[in-house]
Amino acid sequence: MESERPAAQVAVVTGGASGFGRALGGRCAARGLRVALLDRDGERAESEAAAITAEHGVEAFGLGVDVASGEAVRAAAGAVADRFGRADVVVSNVGVQLFGAVERLTDDEWRWVLDVNVLGAARTAQAFLPLLRAAPHGRLAFTTSSSVLSPAARLGAYQASKFAVWGLAETLRLELAPDGIAVSVVFPSGMASRHLETSAEAQPDHLRRAIGEQDDFVAMVASNPEMVQNPVSPDEAAGNVIEALLAGERYIVTHGDLVDPVRARGIDLDRAAAAALGQRPAPDAAPA
Ligand SMILES: NC(=O)c1ccc[n+]([C@@H]2O[C@H](COP(=O)([O-])OP(=O)(O)OC[C@H]3O[C@@H](n4cnc5c(N)ncnc54)[C@H](O)[C@@H]3O)[C@@H](O)[C@H]2O)c1
Repeated sequence: MESERPAAQVAVVTGGASGFGRALGGRCAARGLRVALLDRDGERAESEAAAITAEHGVEAFGLGVDVASGEAVRAAAGAVADRFGRADVVVSNVGVQLFGAVERLTDDEWRWVLDVNVLGAARTAQAFLPLLRAAPHGRLAFTTSSSVLSPAARLGAYQASKFAVWGLAETLRLELAPDGIAVSVVFPSGMASRHLETSAEAQPDHLRRAIGEQDDFVAMVASNPEMVQNPVSPDEAAGNVIEALLAGERYIVTHGDLVDPVRARGIDLDRAAAAALGQRPAPDAAPA
């Protein structure tokens, strides 16, 4: 079925200098796509792009781009158009982490996390839409987190931002269907990456504090022990999902066992929806 689809030629990944984004860039290159890695760490984006070219023999370039700036993201779309003339696959993958109990998070901390994670994703989609519309089968993917499928304590700002990215993706899926652009939501589980380190590097000076305190980690793990079990490498996670991503699947889970929490939420939602129709199931109704 997929063999009838013209092969995608160019992939763009934000947060592409490190971790999952870098790994997705490598996996795309291994399939022959040219790759643009966009990242606020421009130096690393360039050196990782050079490593991709050396390993896979495809053209790749890295660019310093802060998704907190609409101007920078639009300029990056222009640079991709100049260099490659197209973009078939765009992965909005940037995400910063900031732990903290909801009652202690400040307005400025919320603004930072939401601006980078949510508005950054919206800016990325907006800037690259003209290129995706021109592609024969545009693919737009958003990296969220398995924490929206199975949340934990002390991750309020992060999880709220990732739920918002999911909502953004669901809306775009409807808005872009007439253009033939598939929108995917990627839910990675725990990966051994530089996420806390790069989040600290990205933190604005006026907000500077530890990304997480010991008691945050303890409360997080106590609320959801599964969350920290069996992290995989970003490359393994990317390898698990690259085909689904290139195929434009709606929901993509990288790894980990999320079947029970997803099912439990589904049962509760199902029950609420049925109750609205006056068909409330018995409270102890067990799933078939
Ligand atoms: N590591 C995990 O366990 C995990 C789990 C679930 C979801 N995720 C999500 O996966 C994505 C990738 O994370 P990762 O683990 O590969 O982390 P990573 O730190 O290895 O990579 C993130 C990259 O984003 C870049 N970045 C940060 N702020 C930016 C900004 N404002 N503009 C442009 N680039 C920026 C960083 O410089 C870094 O290169 C994130 O959205 C993260 O929330 C990670």
